[in-house]
Amino acid sequence: MDGEDESRTQPRVGGGERVEPPASFVEQANVSDPGVRDAFAEDWPDCWRVAADLLDWTTEYDAVLGGDAPPFRWFDGGELNASYNCVDRHLADRKNQVAITWEGRLGESRTYSYLDLYREVNEFAAALRELGVEEDDVVTLYMPVVPELPVAMLACARIGAPHSVVFAGFSADALATRMESADSEFLVTCDGYYRRGAPVQLKNKADNAAISLDGGVEATVVVDRLGDDTPLTDDEYDYEGLVTDHRGETVDPVPRAATDQLFLIHTSGTTGVPTPVRHTTGGYLAHAAWTSHAVLDVKPADTHWCSADIGWITGHSYTVYGPLALGATTMLYEGTPDHPEKDRVWELIERNAVDTFYTAPTAIRAFMKWGESHPDAHDLSSLRLLGTVGEPINPRAWKWYHEHIGGGDCPVVDTWWQTETGGMMVTTLPGVDDMKPGSAGPPLPGIDARVVDTDGDPVEPGESGFLVVTDPWPGMPLSMVEDDDWFGARDPARPDLSDYDWAYFTEDGATVDEDGYVTLLGRVDDVINVSGHRFATMEIEAAIADVEGVAEAAVVSGPHDLKGQSVYAYASAVESADEDALRDRIDAAVEDAIGPIAVPDVVVFTPELPKTRSGKVMRRFLEAVAHDDDLGDTSALRNPEVVGELESALADRD
Ligand code: WT7
Repeated sequence: MDGEDESRTQPRVGGGERVEPPASFVEQANVSDPGVRDAFAEDWPDCWRVAADLLDWTTEYDAVLGGDAPPFRWFDGGELNASYNCVDRHLADRKNQVAITWEGRLGESRTYSYLDLYREVNEFAAALRELGVEEDDVVTLYMPVVPELPVAMLACARIGAPHSVVFAGFSADALATRMESADSEFLVTCDGYYRRGAPVQLKNKADNAAISLDGGVEATVVVDRLGDDTPLTDDEYDYEGLVTDHRGETVDPVPRAATDQLFLIHTSGTTGVPTPVRHTTGGYLAHAAWTSHAVLDVKPADTHWCSADIGWITGHSYTVYGPLALGATTMLYEGTPDHPEKDRVWELIERNAVDTFYTAPTAIRAFMKWGESHPDAHDLSSLRLLGTVGEPINPRAWKWYHEHIGGGDCPVVDTWWQTETGGMMVTTLPGVDDMKPGSAGPPLPGIDARVVDTDGDPVEPGESGFLVVTDPWPGMPLSMVEDDDWFGARDPARPDLSDYDWAYFTEDGATVDEDGYVTLLGRVDDVINVSGHRFATMEIEAAIADVEGVAEAAVVSGPHDLKGQSVYAYASAVESADEDALRDRIDAAVEDAIGPIAVPDVVVFTPELPKTRSGKVMRRFLEAVAHDDDLGDTSALRNPEVVGELESALADRD
């Protein structure tokens, strides 16, 4: 990484400042043994038994980790069912306890006790079977945050059908691409949902996706959220009608091998095509349950709120699977944090007596901007622990969260992980470790993550390098389990990991301090992190390049006060193009190809893109212009004059 990148993205560690976890928290913490890291290190991989012990297995596993080279088989020989673990086994102790509490966008709410959840999961599982869903068939769930989404996920898990949740904000094209890549012929969707109080249609997007699919869709189930009486064709079914038809039916949970697929989810890598990441039943669920227990400190009596949309991995692991595996109450919120008022989040926490709250730095920065009068107007004393995920949190936002939301006595866990890791990897343990605002913390016990230089050697404290994981972990996805080539090609922008038996390069830059605390510096690949969501620059570029009137386009990340990063698009227009009209077409094209969330924040028109003599677009300059940074040496450019033009185009725009 060059110096320029570092100065831009590095969240400064607040002068080595340490914050101790409050004694009152430590006393009651699920994990508080200061020796836990050493104990895990001495007993690896068997240490991970504690995670598997949080689950019920129909067949005990023979080995914690089968295989010391790929394929890795976590909890080898074991069998279990995720739906049984998240639902059935809690009936004996807490069938009347709330499993899911849902807060809708219009102020309505619904609760499902564990018994209610058990009934509806069974009924919907029976319905899916009747529709022809068999074990290992992929069911796509294109739904907003409504209780029917976790019900559908658990119903799929019950019959061993992997689900593929597609974020409702994605476009019809994005849905079609994901259904095709997952080879999925079954779809569960909604007629629509509410956004800021106004209805948004979803079913029409699902219809458009279905039209473009070669094989079509075998069966579509539609949840009625808007009460619109959507007309249904012969292979479309009303959710409520199906569940009613199967009232009282039960379906035996299908025993799945620990290494069988539980679900898949798409994410953006360096390429323009979204990649499916397939997670396992045993390793993933153990990892999600253990980290919910050890890091989020979730207890069965707790109400836990993870504010992420279930369409992202965070919602899978920490709204659905982790908290429900532990038998807690998980809260779902369909709305936005500032609607109807900017105190909505605090009102919900107060009214539901939320114990543990997990959100993204981008949200915290918005809360800060809105001011502390909003949280101050509410009693937030039910909160015991706060967490963040998705991007680096700057020390100022960390301290604001700690003080104004946590009242100074809730630990804040800054958890680093990825869609690929399934669950948390680098974070303090709230009952064990001191916190350092701005730094995620040490790797979790049992996780071998380190910061290395281009040769793959660990860097000295304070130096920056690449974050790599050098041992397998339970939540690793099937692709890594099976693949024996995760080293990547030798490339100056990637570390050489050939000295390790096995290693995974995370594509993140990081530094590490003398105490082993890791501070993340952002992605080193062409992935933009907007409000904690990943988009490949290539994906957005491809959409823009298709627009009539655009000759060429490049996309880079720029700064953004709230979102962390923003999407900067540079386009050269064909002669005679009307730039305003073109800008509208570009926005619309990105919205159609991906969704509103990826629409460029800034579009800069330029006669040409800055290029090397061999014709390669030099993104470094585009990034520097977006960040108003020093350009450094422009001698490698074939057309250095274009940089000045870009700068003035950007200045004119402001
Ligand atoms: C990328 C993964 C993990 C669920 C949400 C995002 C960034 C994630 C942190 C953190 C700094 C973070 C990384 C990572 N990231 N958590 N605590 N501090 N950066 O999942 O969409 O797979 O994105 O998010 O860059 O690679 P994802």
